[in-house]
Amino acid sequence: MSELPWWKNAVVYQIYPRSFNDSDGDGVGDIPGIIERLDHLDDLGIDAVWLSPVYESPQHDNGYDVSDYRAIHSGFGTTADWERLLEGLHDRDIRLVMDMVANHTSSEHEWFRQSRSTPEGEHGDYYVWREGDPEAPPNNWESAFGGSAWEYDDERGAWYLHLFDTNQPDLNWRNPRVREEIYDVMNWWLEKGVDGYRLDVVNLLSKAEGLPDGDPSGEWVGSEHFVDGPRIFEYLGEMHDEVFAGTDTVSVGEMPQLDLETASEYTGDGPLDLVFPFEHVELDFGDRGRWDIGEWRLPELKSILDRWQRGLDEEWWTTLFFENHDQPRSVSRFGDDERYRYESATALATIILTLRGTPFVYQGQEIGMTNSTFASLDDVADVDSVRNVRELIDGGVVKDYDAIRHVVEYRSRDNARTPVQWDDSPNAGFTDGDPWLPVNDDYPEVNVARERSESPSVLAYYRRLIELRASTPPLVSGRYNLHYPDDEQLFVYTRTGDNRRVVVVINFSADDRAIDLGPLDGSASLLLGNHEDVPESPDGAVDLRPYEARLYETEPRGSGPSESP
Ligand code: NOJ
Repeated sequence: MSELPWWKNAVVYQIYPRSFNDSDGDGVGDIPGIIERLDHLDDLGIDAVWLSPVYESPQHDNGYDVSDYRAIHSGFGTTADWERLLEGLHDRDIRLVMDMVANHTSSEHEWFRQSRSTPEGEHGDYYVWREGDPEAPPNNWESAFGGSAWEYDDERGAWYLHLFDTNQPDLNWRNPRVREEIYDVMNWWLEKGVDGYRLDVVNLLSKAEGLPDGDPSGEWVGSEHFVDGPRIFEYLGEMHDEVFAGTDTVSVGEMPQLDLETASEYTGDGPLDLVFPFEHVELDFGDRGRWDIGEWRLPELKSILDRWQRGLDEEWWTTLFFENHDQPRSVSRFGDDERYRYESATALATIILTLRGTPFVYQGQEIGMTNSTFASLDDVADVDSVRNVRELIDGGVVKDYDAIRHVVEYRSRDNARTPVQWDDSPNAGFTDGDPWLPVNDDYPEVNVARERSESPSVLAYYRRLIELRASTPPLVSGRYNLHYPDDEQLFVYTRTGDNRRVVVVINFSADDRAIDLGPLDGSASLLLGNHEDVPESPDGAVDLRPYEARLYETEPRGSGPSESP
């Protein structure tokens, strides 16, 4: 395994600093709070942390609106705190991957202030400005957060583009000075010792020449002119050469609307190491897209994951995730958070940690945190949910909040952002103050302290799986083969390599299910399961309980699990 780059052997854990742990009682998580919890990360056995943005920011989008790339957000701590964090992680052999938001800045960034006040000055061309009628935006592009992607700025007397919030103006990547500024910032942090970057919406950097109107019926109007745009490979190639080349770092591109063919051009011999695709977390979109709930079925999930697993060639490598700060809690979405929280959270853990690729675990996922409740729109903090839901109500698409509350409670990004539940003390041990977003009501039952002391627990299972992955080469780099593709209950695959074969058998359903493991013949042995009382060796037909997952090791010979039960 040693010839693999570190990030292929790594399990990455994402921290969303606002919601992780608050050390000073102001209700907002901070860097000293993360430092207090480093042993939790160490115990879990993860290899790297992806830290969502901690740069200075007015926090309209919780740090994805950067006002100073070289300063730490004062609410999160100081540069000295950040240095202590880096040291604390490195002391535990955990790497630090920072988040780089290069598509846009905050409107409070000095570059934007200068750009709007002094068009002819050095920063005049740092953003995407268009002059014209203050009543008519330059084109029909939409913001991902709802409404037009253009805002008229009275000070400059021109429109500026913002693919996200109005407070997040898009940088003009055509301007070589802008690109140099971003590379300088990235190199500045690399010199401080960071181990790589997660690159925010990085396939949106290049906008089509002339900014033409988009197809008005598109899911995200205009996106065909800025997703994987005309100069994107030039920009990312340049970023690779200026920042990543010759370093032992990782680059992970977050890429909306990414398809497999394009993904393979970005990675491998392409400019980036890894990408985040989203197809598998979009399969439950409804007729109204994200703000609607669609039916999803296991064969469809398997088929999407299978395609991304196999990729386009032998060397293909991808990311594995069900959660991040933009996604609802996976146990509520794909599992059963009421009757089978432990079982379905651990079944999902099994998938993420035994497929081929680099697993990313989001804070709280390792204890099976669930979606929250939001009784009124005033309880929702997320700019994306608030703007989109308001637009649906104002446009008459839904009558009022109550008519869409179930969708918000299913889909809103705030589900991932409720504070991490550390114990059953007030506010789940997250803060001594008033949390910026209410703690999920289930914290007396779902919390780290309880997960540590109880058996079985989601946390203990994550730990064992992470350990098993690290000590079982086929789970990292072995060939992958899906069985029973059309089965509505079973998720079964093999990972083969190094003369070993691991068979992963999951009953991904709330009903019992028998499966014939006869072809594994008595030589197979159980590596791990999410139930304790399982025979060491399968013997023909086995009965799987709801969401039961088992990993067997067997000789690579033989036909593998039969295709029919
Ligand atoms: C993607 C980030 O993950 C999300 O949280 C953010 O709102 C947008 N990019 C805009 O930066």
